Amino acid sequence: MTADSTFVSRRGLLSNTGKATVVAGIAGGITQPFRSLGGVAWAAETPKTVKKWVLAKNVGEDLKLTPEHFKLVEEPMPTPKQGEALVKVVLCNIHASTRNLMRPGKSTKVGETDKTNYACARVMQSRDKTYREGDLIALQAGWNTYQVTSSDWPQEGSPREFALVDELNGSLSRTDYVFRPVMVRQYTPDVLMDVFGTSGLTAYYGMRECGPITPKDRIAVAGTTGSVGAMAAQICKAKGAYVVGFGGGAERAKWVTDTLGIDKALDYRAKDLDAQLKAAFPNGIDVYCDGVGGPLTESIAKLMNQDSRYFSYGSSAGIYADLQPDYTASAEKSAGMFGMSQAVANIIKERHIKLEAWNQAVWAQDRIEAENKLSQLVNTKKLKPINYVVKGFENIPKGVVSQYDGTNPYGKLQLQYEA
Ligand SMILES: NC(=O)c1ccc[n+]([C@@H]2O[C@H](COP(=O)([O-])OP(=O)(O)OC[C@H]3O[C@@H](n4cnc5c(N)ncnc54)[C@H](OP(=O)(O)O)[C@@H]3O)[C@@H](O)[C@H]2O)c1
Repeated sequence: MTADSTFVSRRGLLSNTGKATVVAGIAGGITQPFRSLGGVAWAAETPKTVKKWVLAKNVGEDLKLTPEHFKLVEEPMPTPKQGEALVKVVLCNIHASTRNLMRPGKSTKVGETDKTNYACARVMQSRDKTYREGDLIALQAGWNTYQVTSSDWPQEGSPREFALVDELNGSLSRTDYVFRPVMVRQYTPDVLMDVFGTSGLTAYYGMRECGPITPKDRIAVAGTTGSVGAMAAQICKAKGAYVVGFGGGAERAKWVTDTLGIDKALDYRAKDLDAQLKAAFPNGIDVYCDGVGGPLTESIAKLMNQDSRYFSYGSSAGIYADLQPDYTASAEKSAGMFGMSQAVANIIKERHIKLEAWNQAVWAQDRIEAENKLSQLVNTKKLKPINYVVKGFENIPKGVVSQYDGTNPYGKLQLQYEA
């Protein structure tokens, strides 16, 4: 170790001048025995194998997903190399597009697990510059009990953003970071991955970029029974705006008003939806938060005001089209990003509507701001987590299937690896 180094931080060894300095042993190729969580206990308690659910066969054209698409395998426990950490996966989110990734030619290959689940995990052994044993970290994880990861594994994207993110949390990734102790003390893993995961963050950044949201705003939030929409509707209501949400059927619409405490909710499948929308927005719509696209978006776009604001982040109508009654057939085929049709794009242009359409990862450098603002809302009871946790590693296939067979009730579907 160099003479001036005085302390160890998340970013590695820092000198007393605040600059990173190199550990002589590592630089010289000497691998010091790395610390392990619980020392001997780790060796005694850690299984020798990793359990993993892999894809047994691709999802076909009919998009039918069943537990038979999954197969359980066991593999030897990996050993972290220099610069890596071994983590135990605690809980992962299932996203709307998981099933699509299981189709032929997509990222989840037969014989492999889906490695893209946004998850949290406990660091068990670390030879990584940022992750310390015992840390709870967010990462992309497979349906496996343990895996190795690294804060230094580069991912695709803009180098500028990575520089900002590295500065913030010592990671080269826009998804991987260490949860701050203040967050881990306050919130359980399911809340961390829901409110402070992609659902809450997407909603927060979306409404911030369409903001400031004021009590005078008349806002439509699509996908309100789903994970991002449920967060966005509550955030807008907390700002005092008039908020209308949507559900697939009268019962789901009623859940929206009863549970989220917003002003009104409509059944987006109703035959007289256009008339109901006009009645709900006699003075037009100032802000539209849209994770669905399709016919609902076409109806809403017609009511949007001149110079209004539009956040488009997803295309549930297309993703879940197989679960819908026939009416989606009448929709103009989705043209652009996130299922926005040409007709909607024309309205945006003609009415000079401010459009925000991006993946939340582009705001990764603002995570601490988002966590702090969302925390304030949760702690003042203005924002409730809306999530559904399926517990037990053996239930992972059933859990993933529940996203697509109508049994995942509301909000974010999450798989907790231990029962
Ligand atoms: N840009 C980003 O950074 C970002 C981040 C997160 C998610 N996304 C994307 O955003 C979309 C939504 O994600 P999510 O996690 O909120 O999904 P989710 O939890 O699965 O919720 C889907 C929502 O869409 C509604 N819906 C389904 N089909 C519909 C239709 N034909 N018309 C109107 N509403 C319909 C559902 O209502 P019912 O269940 O009541 O029918 C539900 O409220 C996905 O495309 C996802 O990939 C993007």
